Amino acid sequence: MSRARLAVLVSGRGSNLEALRSACEAGLIAADIVLVGSNRPHAPAVRWAHDAGIATLASDSRGCGDRAAWDRGFLAEVAAFWPDWIVLAGFMRQLDGPAISKWIGRMINVHPSLLPKYPGLHTHRRVLEAGEREHGASVHFVTAELDGGPVLAQVRMPVQQGDTPESLAARLLPLEHRLLVASVAFLLSHRVELMSGCIWLEGVPMSGPLQLDEGLALR
Ligand code: GRF
Repeated sequence: MSRARLAVLVSGRGSNLEALRSACEAGLIAADIVLVGSNRPHAPAVRWAHDAGIATLASDSRGCGDRAAWDRGFLAEVAAFWPDWIVLAGFMRQLDGPAISKWIGRMINVHPSLLPKYPGLHTHRRVLEAGEREHGASVHFVTAELDGGPVLAQVRMPVQQGDTPESLAARLLPLEHRLLVASVAFLLSHRVELMSGCIWLEGVPMSGPLQLDEGLALR
């Protein structure tokens, strides 16, 4: 079977990007990363992709004025690489609805909370402030609503006594990497599809997100 083409969009450090790339190289994902795109030309993730020999597309979105026009132009350049999937992996920009419309169902995002709880920023701090006993990460289909699209899969972990935003982030990050890799592999199995705003698993609407188990399988 032919390998899928992934475009990965990033804005910062790029640890999720590195996890995806390792999984592609190890054969855990039957795909190639054909492009790393960024709205932050100086992001460490862009440098890493360049050094890894991956095509990069970096265009500063700061001060771009017309947000929708930037999004349209950027995604048109991404589309020129013919990705099958666009993966937002620490891409810190909400893309304009009409600009993403042709990607709905083929664009996912990884977010560090158990959505629909805590969309947006500072999730670890907000989880602690709310006294939550559990935290986690989600992979969801991207829609025009910030972190609001249907959730495909989640990973959960307990909040421990004495946790800080930093300790939560550090414990969650490796789980997030595994969740993203497992989710992309699952999507490439063609068992799920997004239809009428709902995720269908083998022809049946999913009743809730898949959960990543200890064996790294989604159930
Ligand atoms: C991750 O926690 C991701 O969920 C969030 O931003 C962080 C990016 O980390 N949206 P990295 O750039 O992949 O290391």
